[in-house]
Amino acid sequence: MTTTGQFPTTRLRRNRRDDFTRRLVAETTLAVDNLIWPIFVIEGADTRAEVASMPGVLRVTLDRLAAHVEPAAALGIPALALFPVTPPALRDAQGTEALNPDNLICRAARLLKREFPHMGLVGDVALDPYTDHGHDGVIRDGYVANDESVAILSRQAVNQAAAGIDIIAPSDMMDGRVGAIRRDLDAQGLTDTRIMSYAVKYASAFYGPFRDALGSGGLLKGDKKTYQMDPANSDEALREVAQDLAEGADMVMVKPGMPYLDVIRRVRERFAVPTFAYQVSGEYAMLAGAMERGWLDRDRAILESLMGFRRAGASGVLTYFAVEAARLLRAG
Ligand code: PBG
Repeated sequence: MTTTGQFPTTRLRRNRRDDFTRRLVAETTLAVDNLIWPIFVIEGADTRAEVASMPGVLRVTLDRLAAHVEPAAALGIPALALFPVTPPALRDAQGTEALNPDNLICRAARLLKREFPHMGLVGDVALDPYTDHGHDGVIRDGYVANDESVAILSRQAVNQAAAGIDIIAPSDMMDGRVGAIRRDLDAQGLTDTRIMSYAVKYASAFYGPFRDALGSGGLLKGDKKTYQMDPANSDEALREVAQDLAEGADMVMVKPGMPYLDVIRRVRERFAVPTFAYQVSGEYAMLAGAMERGWLDRDRAILESLMGFRRAGASGVLTYFAVEAARLLRAG
């Protein structure tokens, strides 16, 4: 048998040889603490309806909500992000239903706070679940009007916080909304309500299945390019984050996730603030579709995709795989 002599001195495979060294040298961790689970709630009773383009993801009525959330609570997932499906009859041009203290998200928040007092609740602030045109703000002369929309969005935020939402997550991309929301929350004595701003939100094709889930996809007139960011830009992402932090954001988010890992890395390195990633509906659909066909190993692909966010610098990830991932992580 021939030997290789002195070559090579450095063998990077040595540390990979055994499980114990692989564990010792792992640079990144993924834990249940890093997961936020987005869930969809619908009106009506006794219904769990699957989203066609998101196999395995359900929209549930409030009478089923506690049972739906129970496994997430038992696994120790820190927070849920709530998304209401608003019936067409309750939608209008101004998104009026967003301000109703008894709207679906407020009822869901009160129920969840009663059943799971330690579960954090994230409330998405934007008008698209409530408008009949599917845009995140109100429209004047064919354009989503910034300041008028911000005035409504900050009232929406106060409405949600008063119902028990712990973390307000403005996803509308209007300028100045974080500052307006912070000011209005504080004026109502809601000084402990946190703000996780969707600071860097791109005009993305990957939200398609989410809009199906909410029933706002078919309604949407045009696109969201006059307020959501151009996928070509990342210097601009840093300006968005700087502005939201200056206005009082406690945490920031980059969305979508997997095509924008470079942006997460830049934001984390520049600002060193809690930075979240949203593995959005289209990313879920892509992975779940391939898993269903047996083209990807489900468990490994879930954990690898989430580890990628952590390696890029994300504090945590909003993911539709949260419950499955938590089960895998608890099982070791
Ligand atoms: C609403 C909102 C969207 C998502 C979260 N909040 C859709 C959009 O902006 O059109 C997308 C989430 C997902 O795709 O999973 N403003």
